[in-house]
Amino acid sequence: MAQRPIALAVQGGAGPISLESYKRNRPAIGEILGKTAPMLVDGASAMQVVEEAVRLFEKHPSFNAGVGSSLRYDGSVQLDATIMDGSTVMGAGVGAVSGVLYPVTLARYVLERTPHVLMVGEWAAQFARECGMELVADEELIVPERRRLWERKLAAKETPEDQVLSSGGTVGAVALDVEGKLAAATSTGGLVLSLQGRVGDSAILGAGTYADAHSAVSCTGVGESIMRVLMAKVCADAVVNGMSPQEAAELSVRVQGDNTPGTSGAIVVDNRGALGLAYNSENMYRGYFTPAEGVVVPE
Ligand code: GLY
Repeated sequence: MAQRPIALAVQGGAGPISLESYKRNRPAIGEILGKTAPMLVDGASAMQVVEEAVRLFEKHPSFNAGVGSSLRYDGSVQLDATIMDGSTVMGAGVGAVSGVLYPVTLARYVLERTPHVLMVGEWAAQFARECGMELVADEELIVPERRRLWERKLAAKETPEDQVLSSGGTVGAVALDVEGKLAAATSTGGLVLSLQGRVGDSAILGAGTYADAHSAVSCTGVGESIMRVLMAKVCADAVVNGMSPQEAAELSVRVQGDNTPGTSGAIVVDNRGALGLAYNSENMYRGYFTPAEGVVVPE
């Protein structure tokens, strides 16, 4: 009997990523895939695998999520995340929450333990406490490189508006499991210098994250631009309408770039295990796994 297809793709952010940074952080993408692809092979659900992949990114100091998050204008850290199960078309997110090392897991708790789709701010942090998550101080999420970037940008008198146009980074994962179920998850520390209380696309289903019976999508880039075109839903609907995941990823990036400022990227997997990865920025940290190709992290 033919093996049922499985597939996994991850992204660690798109934007003005130099070749040097890409090369430096490329091994981490391979390590994250190296830990999560075997889970998929061993029969873990797509939801388990995308959550674990995003948690590994959140723990890694080089990516803008969890530890390593961007600093807001006032120097604080506020996080957004979503997770979505394509088999039920159920998902949930958290926005502008502080002190949570694994926001993707908090998003999963919102999905599984509340009737809600989005919880924000101090109330989301309170909910994290009620779920038994240990809250950490901002200092534990801030790495020196991000603090230096924030200081440089403040000194250059950049405003939140400048930032909206120039950067954006998230982490995310999409997977198809052996049961034929799809899932997507996305997490971010948001935009450096953004105002407190700002919520980006990574907290919004249909914008940064989407999954249904046909595909699962995770987007990265400038949240304000992604939200205004509902980029993940554009990508997912293109798959429903017959596009391949690669065509759909390219279309969604084009729709963003043609209609809103800033840059973006998308990863997508469909229910046959085909993958799409596209971006219109300088670069995107990315990689994928299929049984035929193994773990692939582009040079
Ligand atoms: N895409 C991440 C953000 O804009 O918050």
